Amino acid sequence: MSDKPITVDPELNTDNPARDDYQSETTSVASSTYRWLIENGRRYQTMRENKYWSPADEQQFESLEAGHAVAIVMDFDKPNPLFQAPNILDVGTGSGLWAIDVADMLPETTVRGVDLFPPPAAWVSPNCILEVDDVLQEWTWTEPFDFIHLRIMLGSFGVDEWKVVYKKCYDSLKPGGWIEQLELDAHLETDDNSLPQGSLAATWGDNTFGCAERADRRIDTLNTMRASIEQAGFIDIHERDYKWPIGAWAKEKHFKEAGALNYNMWSSGIEGWGMWYLTKFGEPSLWSRDQVFTYVGKIRWELKNPRVHCYQRA
Ligand SMILES: C[S@@+](CC[C@H](N)C(=O)[O-])C[C@H]1O[C@@H](n2cnc3c(N)ncnc32)[C@H](O)[C@@H]1O
Repeated sequence: MSDKPITVDPELNTDNPARDDYQSETTSVASSTYRWLIENGRRYQTMRENKYWSPADEQQFESLEAGHAVAIVMDFDKPNPLFQAPNILDVGTGSGLWAIDVADMLPETTVRGVDLFPPPAAWVSPNCILEVDDVLQEWTWTEPFDFIHLRIMLGSFGVDEWKVVYKKCYDSLKPGGWIEQLELDAHLETDDNSLPQGSLAATWGDNTFGCAERADRRIDTLNTMRASIEQAGFIDIHERDYKWPIGAWAKEKHFKEAGALNYNMWSSGIEGWGMWYLTKFGEPSLWSRDQVFTYVGKIRWELKNPRVHCYQRA
Protein backbone atom coordinates (compact mmCIF):
# COMPACT_ATOMS: atom_id res chain seq x y z
CA MET A 1 0.00 0.00 0.00
CA SER A 2 1.17 3.54 -0.72
CA ASP A 3 1.34 5.30 2.62
CA LYS A 4 3.13 8.36 1.40
CA PRO A 5 1.01 11.36 2.44
CA ILE A 6 -0.18 13.76 -0.24
CA THR A 7 0.95 17.31 0.56
CA VAL A 8 -1.83 19.73 1.42
CA ASP A 9 -1.83 22.97 -0.56
CA PRO A 10 -1.29 25.91 1.83
CA GLU A 11 -3.06 28.17 -0.67
CA LEU A 12 -6.06 25.91 -1.00
CA ASN A 13 -7.98 26.25 -4.21
CA THR A 14 -5.74 28.97 -5.61
CA ASP A 15 -4.31 28.61 -9.04
CA ASN A 16 -0.90 30.06 -9.66
CA PRO A 17 -0.24 30.08 -13.40
CA ALA A 18 3.51 30.33 -12.77
CA ARG A 19 3.36 26.76 -11.47
CA ASP A 20 2.18 25.57 -14.86
CA ASP A 21 5.38 26.56 -16.58
CA TYR A 22 7.47 23.82 -17.95
CA GLN A 23 10.11 23.83 -20.59
CA SER A 24 10.17 21.90 -23.80
CA GLU A 25 12.85 19.31 -23.68
CA THR A 26 12.87 18.70 -27.40
CA THR A 27 16.32 18.67 -28.90
CA SER A 28 17.19 18.43 -32.56
CA VAL A 29 19.77 16.06 -33.93
CA ALA A 30 22.07 17.51 -36.56
CA SER A 31 22.03 15.54 -39.82
CA SER A 32 25.38 14.13 -40.85
CA THR A 33 26.76 13.44 -44.27
CA TYR A 34 26.69 9.74 -44.89
CA ARG A 35 29.74 7.98 -46.34
CA TRP A 36 28.81 5.23 -48.81
CA LEU A 37 30.87 2.32 -50.14
CA ILE A 38 30.70 1.64 -53.89
CA GLU A 39 31.66 -1.91 -54.85
CA ASN A 40 31.04 -3.92 -58.00
CA GLY A 41 28.82 -1.16 -59.33
CA ARG A 42 26.56 -1.27 -56.23
CA ARG A 43 26.24 1.09 -53.25
CA TYR A 44 26.62 -0.28 -49.68
CA GLN A 45 26.24 1.06 -46.15
CA THR A 46 29.41 1.68 -44.14
CA MET A 47 28.16 1.54 -40.58
CA ARG A 48 28.90 -2.16 -40.31
CA GLU A 49 31.51 -2.32 -43.02
CA ASN A 50 31.62 -5.62 -44.91
CA LYS A 51 29.30 -7.21 -42.34
CA TYR A 52 25.98 -6.88 -44.08
CA TRP A 53 25.19 -8.19 -47.54
CA SER A 54 22.47 -5.93 -48.90
CA PRO A 55 23.22 -3.06 -51.26
CA ALA A 56 21.47 0.18 -50.31
CA ASP A 57 20.77 1.75 -53.67
CA GLU A 58 17.86 2.55 -55.98
CA GLN A 59 17.77 -0.96 -57.46
CA GLN A 60 17.58 -2.60 -54.02
CA PHE A 61 14.98 -0.10 -52.78
CA GLU A 62 12.79 -1.05 -55.73
CA SER A 63 12.96 -4.66 -54.59
CA LEU A 64 12.10 -3.71 -50.95
CA GLU A 65 9.11 -1.71 -52.19
CA ALA A 66 7.84 -4.71 -54.16
CA GLY A 67 8.28 -6.97 -51.09
CA HIS A 68 6.30 -4.47 -48.98
CA ALA A 69 3.47 -4.57 -51.50
CA VAL A 70 3.47 -8.40 -51.59
CA ALA A 71 3.12 -8.57 -47.78
CA ILE A 72 0.13 -6.18 -47.92
CA VAL A 73 -1.59 -8.04 -50.76
CA MET A 74 -1.10 -11.38 -49.00
CA ASP A 75 -3.07 -10.05 -45.96
CA PHE A 76 -5.69 -8.26 -48.08
CA ASP A 77 -8.52 -9.79 -46.00
CA LYS A 78 -7.21 -8.50 -42.62
CA PRO A 79 -8.49 -5.21 -41.16
CA ASN A 80 -4.86 -4.15 -40.88
CA PRO A 81 -2.55 -5.78 -43.41
CA LEU A 82 0.56 -3.99 -42.09
CA PHE A 83 0.95 -6.02 -38.89
CA GLN A 84 -1.02 -8.43 -36.73
CA ALA A 85 -3.17 -5.82 -35.00
CA PRO A 86 -3.53 -6.25 -31.25
CA ASN A 87 -6.95 -7.25 -30.00
CA ILE A 88 -8.15 -5.70 -26.74
CA LEU A 89 -11.22 -6.37 -24.57
CA ASP A 90 -12.66 -4.00 -21.98
CA VAL A 91 -14.84 -5.98 -19.56
CA GLY A 92 -17.70 -3.90 -18.12
CA THR A 93 -16.97 -0.93 -20.36
CA GLY A 94 -19.75 1.25 -18.85
CA SER A 95 -19.87 4.51 -20.82
CA GLY A 96 -17.24 3.00 -23.15
CA LEU A 97 -14.86 5.93 -22.68
CA TRP A 98 -11.78 3.79 -21.99
CA ALA A 99 -12.39 1.61 -25.05
CA ILE A 100 -13.11 4.65 -27.22
CA ASP A 101 -9.96 6.47 -26.07
CA VAL A 102 -7.75 3.39 -26.60
CA ALA A 103 -9.23 2.82 -30.06
CA ASP A 104 -8.58 6.48 -30.97
CA MET A 105 -5.03 6.27 -29.64
CA LEU A 106 -4.25 2.96 -31.39
CA PRO A 107 -6.09 3.06 -34.72
CA GLU A 108 -4.59 -0.26 -35.82
CA THR A 109 -5.96 -2.08 -32.77
CA THR A 110 -9.36 -3.68 -32.44
CA VAL A 111 -10.88 -2.64 -29.12
CA ARG A 112 -14.03 -4.37 -27.91
CA GLY A 113 -15.98 -3.07 -24.95
CA VAL A 114 -18.69 -5.23 -23.42
CA ASP A 115 -21.36 -4.30 -20.93
CA LEU A 116 -24.84 -5.25 -19.79
CA PHE A 117 -26.24 -2.09 -21.40
CA PRO A 118 -25.51 -0.17 -24.58
CA PRO A 119 -23.09 2.70 -23.88
CA PRO A 120 -24.28 6.27 -24.40
CA ALA A 121 -21.60 6.94 -27.06
CA ALA A 122 -22.99 8.54 -30.22
CA TRP A 123 -20.00 7.83 -32.44
CA VAL A 124 -17.00 5.55 -32.09
CA SER A 125 -14.07 4.96 -34.42
CA PRO A 126 -14.38 1.91 -36.70
CA ASN A 127 -11.79 -0.08 -34.70
CA CYS A 128 -13.91 0.21 -31.53
CA ILE A 129 -16.72 -2.30 -31.12
CA LEU A 130 -19.10 -1.84 -28.20
CA GLU A 131 -21.25 -4.87 -27.44
CA VAL A 132 -24.07 -5.69 -25.04
CA ASP A 133 -23.54 -8.98 -23.22
CA ASP A 134 -23.18 -10.59 -19.82
CA VAL A 135 -19.56 -11.64 -19.32
CA LEU A 136 -20.69 -14.46 -17.02
CA GLN A 137 -22.25 -16.14 -20.05
CA GLU A 138 -20.27 -18.03 -22.68
CA TRP A 139 -17.68 -15.86 -24.45
CA THR A 140 -18.25 -16.17 -28.19
CA TRP A 141 -15.35 -14.04 -29.45
CA THR A 142 -13.34 -16.19 -31.81
CA GLU A 143 -10.04 -14.27 -31.81
CA PRO A 144 -8.00 -14.48 -28.61
CA PHE A 145 -7.09 -11.17 -26.96
CA ASP A 146 -3.68 -9.62 -26.34
CA PHE A 147 -4.93 -7.56 -23.44
CA ILE A 148 -8.07 -7.59 -21.26
CA HIS A 149 -8.89 -4.54 -19.18
CA LEU A 150 -11.19 -4.24 -16.17
CA ARG A 151 -11.82 -1.03 -14.26
CA ILE A 152 -14.02 -0.22 -11.27
CA MET A 153 -15.78 -3.58 -11.39
CA LEU A 154 -16.20 -3.81 -7.61
CA GLY A 155 -19.63 -5.11 -6.66
CA SER A 156 -20.23 -6.61 -10.11
CA PHE A 157 -19.73 -10.25 -9.16
CA GLY A 158 -19.99 -12.64 -6.23
CA VAL A 159 -16.86 -14.49 -5.07
CA ASP A 160 -17.48 -17.54 -7.31
CA GLU A 161 -18.46 -15.36 -10.25
CA TRP A 162 -15.14 -13.53 -10.03
CA LYS A 163 -13.42 -16.91 -10.40
CA VAL A 164 -15.44 -17.52 -13.58
CA VAL A 165 -14.57 -14.09 -14.98
CA TYR A 166 -10.82 -14.40 -14.34
CA LYS A 167 -10.78 -17.94 -15.78
CA LYS A 168 -12.54 -16.71 -18.91
CA CYS A 169 -10.00 -13.89 -19.18
CA TYR A 170 -7.13 -16.34 -18.79
CA ASP A 171 -8.52 -18.75 -21.38
CA SER A 172 -9.25 -15.97 -23.87
CA LEU A 173 -5.78 -14.45 -23.89
CA LYS A 174 -3.03 -15.24 -26.36
CA PRO A 175 0.12 -16.75 -24.87
CA GLY A 176 1.98 -13.81 -23.35
CA GLY A 177 -1.22 -11.76 -23.09
CA TRP A 178 -2.11 -9.89 -19.92
CA ILE A 179 -4.94 -8.37 -17.91
CA GLU A 180 -4.98 -5.09 -16.08
CA GLN A 181 -7.48 -4.19 -13.39
CA LEU A 182 -7.97 -0.92 -11.56
CA GLU A 183 -10.19 -0.95 -8.47
CA LEU A 184 -11.18 1.57 -5.83
CA ASP A 185 -11.71 1.27 -2.09
CA ALA A 186 -14.98 2.77 -0.86
CA HIS A 187 -13.41 3.80 2.48
CA LEU A 188 -12.58 7.45 2.90
CA GLU A 189 -9.24 8.01 4.61
CA THR A 190 -7.13 10.96 5.68
CA ASP A 191 -3.50 11.20 6.78
CA ASP A 192 -4.19 14.12 9.12
CA ASN A 193 -7.47 13.18 10.84
CA SER A 194 -9.13 16.05 9.04
CA LEU A 195 -12.40 14.14 8.68
CA PRO A 196 -14.27 15.17 11.87
CA GLN A 197 -15.37 12.51 14.32
CA GLY A 198 -19.02 11.68 13.75
CA SER A 199 -18.97 12.74 10.12
CA LEU A 200 -21.20 10.68 7.84
CA ALA A 201 -18.43 10.40 5.25
CA ALA A 202 -16.48 8.31 7.77
CA THR A 203 -19.35 5.80 7.88
CA TRP A 204 -19.66 5.40 4.11
CA GLY A 205 -17.01 2.69 3.64
CA ASP A 206 -18.17 0.26 6.34
CA ASN A 207 -21.81 0.95 5.57
CA THR A 208 -21.50 0.08 1.86
CA PHE A 209 -19.10 -2.82 2.56
CA GLY A 210 -21.78 -4.32 4.87
CA CYS A 211 -24.56 -3.92 2.30
CA ALA A 212 -22.38 -5.42 -0.44
CA GLU A 213 -21.52 -8.40 1.74
CA ARG A 214 -25.21 -9.06 2.46
CA ALA A 215 -25.91 -8.73 -1.27
CA ASP A 216 -23.18 -11.29 -2.04
CA ARG A 217 -21.55 -8.60 -4.16
CA ARG A 218 -18.54 -7.79 -2.03
CA ILE A 219 -16.75 -4.55 -2.83
CA ASP A 220 -13.37 -5.46 -1.36
CA THR A 221 -12.09 -6.24 -4.87
CA LEU A 222 -9.08 -3.94 -4.44
CA ASN A 223 -7.83 -6.20 -1.66
CA THR A 224 -8.83 -9.56 -3.14
CA MET A 225 -8.04 -9.21 -6.83
CA ARG A 226 -4.36 -10.11 -6.63
CA ALA A 227 -5.05 -13.51 -5.03
CA SER A 228 -7.97 -14.20 -7.38
CA ILE A 229 -5.90 -13.29 -10.45
CA GLU A 230 -3.09 -15.53 -9.22
CA GLN A 231 -5.56 -18.35 -8.59
CA ALA A 232 -6.76 -18.13 -12.20
CA GLY A 233 -3.22 -18.99 -13.33
CA PHE A 234 -1.76 -15.58 -14.13
CA ILE A 235 1.91 -15.09 -13.35
CA ASP A 236 4.27 -12.11 -13.13
CA ILE A 237 1.72 -9.95 -11.32
CA HIS A 238 2.56 -6.31 -10.65
CA GLU A 239 0.73 -3.94 -8.34
CA ARG A 240 0.68 -0.19 -8.20
CA ASP A 241 -0.97 1.60 -5.30
CA TYR A 242 -2.63 4.98 -5.51
CA LYS A 243 -4.29 7.41 -3.19
CA TRP A 244 -7.02 9.19 -5.14
CA PRO A 245 -7.65 12.54 -3.40
CA ILE A 246 -11.26 13.68 -3.13
CA GLY A 247 -11.54 17.46 -3.49
CA ALA A 248 -8.98 19.99 -4.69
CA TRP A 249 -7.15 20.11 -1.35
CA ALA A 250 -3.72 18.85 -2.42
CA LYS A 251 -0.73 21.04 -3.11
CA GLU A 252 0.75 19.14 -6.06
CA LYS A 253 -0.87 20.20 -9.31
CA HIS A 254 -1.80 16.73 -10.56
CA PHE A 255 -3.23 15.68 -7.17
CA LYS A 256 -5.23 18.91 -7.04
CA GLU A 257 -6.64 18.30 -10.50
CA ALA A 258 -7.32 14.62 -9.79
CA GLY A 259 -9.00 15.58 -6.50
CA ALA A 260 -11.30 18.11 -8.17
CA LEU A 261 -12.27 15.49 -10.76
CA ASN A 262 -12.71 12.83 -8.09
CA TYR A 263 -14.97 15.12 -6.08
CA ASN A 264 -17.02 15.37 -9.24
CA MET A 265 -17.07 11.57 -9.55
CA TRP A 266 -18.22 11.26 -5.93
CA SER A 267 -20.73 14.07 -6.13
CA SER A 268 -22.43 12.67 -9.22
CA GLY A 269 -21.92 9.00 -8.33
CA ILE A 270 -22.63 8.62 -4.62
CA GLU A 271 -26.41 8.57 -4.88
CA GLY A 272 -26.26 5.79 -7.50
CA TRP A 273 -23.67 3.85 -5.50
CA GLY A 274 -25.79 3.96 -2.34
CA MET A 275 -29.38 3.76 -3.56
CA TRP A 276 -29.50 0.09 -4.61
CA TYR A 277 -27.42 -1.19 -1.70
CA LEU A 278 -29.05 0.82 1.07
CA THR A 279 -32.68 0.39 -0.03
CA LYS A 280 -32.20 -3.37 -0.51
CA PHE A 281 -29.55 -4.30 2.06
CA GLY A 282 -29.33 -1.33 4.45
CA GLU A 283 -29.20 -1.75 8.19
CA PRO A 284 -30.68 -1.80 10.79
CA SER A 285 -33.66 -1.91 8.40
CA LEU A 286 -33.94 -1.15 4.70
CA TRP A 287 -33.47 2.55 3.99
CA SER A 288 -36.03 4.70 2.23
CA ARG A 289 -35.15 6.66 -0.86
CA ASP A 290 -35.38 9.91 1.12
CA GLN A 291 -33.02 8.58 3.79
CA VAL A 292 -30.50 7.80 1.07
CA PHE A 293 -30.93 11.30 -0.44
CA THR A 294 -30.28 12.92 2.92
CA TYR A 295 -27.30 10.68 3.73
CA VAL A 296 -25.49 11.18 0.42
CA GLY A 297 -26.34 14.88 0.39
CA LYS A 298 -24.61 15.35 3.75
CA ILE A 299 -21.57 13.33 2.65
CA ARG A 300 -21.28 15.45 -0.51
CA TRP A 301 -21.31 18.54 1.65
CA GLU A 302 -18.70 17.15 4.07
CA LEU A 303 -16.37 16.21 1.23
CA LYS A 304 -16.65 19.67 -0.27
CA ASN A 305 -15.06 21.23 2.81
CA PRO A 306 -11.47 22.18 1.80
CA ARG A 307 -10.31 21.49 5.38
CA VAL A 308 -11.20 17.83 4.88
CA HIS A 309 -8.29 16.05 3.16
CA CYS A 310 -9.87 12.76 2.14
CA TYR A 311 -8.63 10.20 -0.28
CA GLN A 312 -9.54 6.70 -1.29
CA ARG A 313 -7.15 3.93 -2.15
CA ALA A 314 -6.94 2.53 -5.67
C1 LIG B 1 -18.75 0.93 -12.18
S1 LIG B 1 -18.94 0.53 -13.85
C2 LIG B 1 -17.32 0.83 -14.52
C3 LIG B 1 -17.37 1.11 -15.98
C4 LIG B 1 -16.03 1.27 -16.67
N1 LIG B 1 -15.23 0.08 -16.55
C5 LIG B 1 -15.27 2.47 -16.16
O1 LIG B 1 -14.24 2.32 -15.53
O2 LIG B 1 -15.73 3.60 -16.43
C6 LIG B 1 -19.02 -1.25 -13.89
C7 LIG B 1 -19.65 -1.76 -15.17
O3 LIG B 1 -19.62 -3.19 -15.19
C8 LIG B 1 -20.77 -3.63 -15.85
N2 LIG B 1 -21.05 -5.04 -15.54
C9 LIG B 1 -21.40 -5.55 -14.32
N3 LIG B 1 -21.66 -6.87 -14.43
C10 LIG B 1 -21.45 -7.20 -15.72
C11 LIG B 1 -21.59 -8.40 -16.46
N4 LIG B 1 -21.98 -9.53 -15.86
N5 LIG B 1 -21.31 -8.39 -17.79
C12 LIG B 1 -20.93 -7.24 -18.40
N6 LIG B 1 -20.80 -6.06 -17.76
C13 LIG B 1 -21.06 -6.03 -16.44
C14 LIG B 1 -21.84 -2.69 -15.35
O4 LIG B 1 -22.99 -2.67 -16.16
C15 LIG B 1 -21.10 -1.36 -15.31
O5 LIG B 1 -21.27 -0.60 -16.47
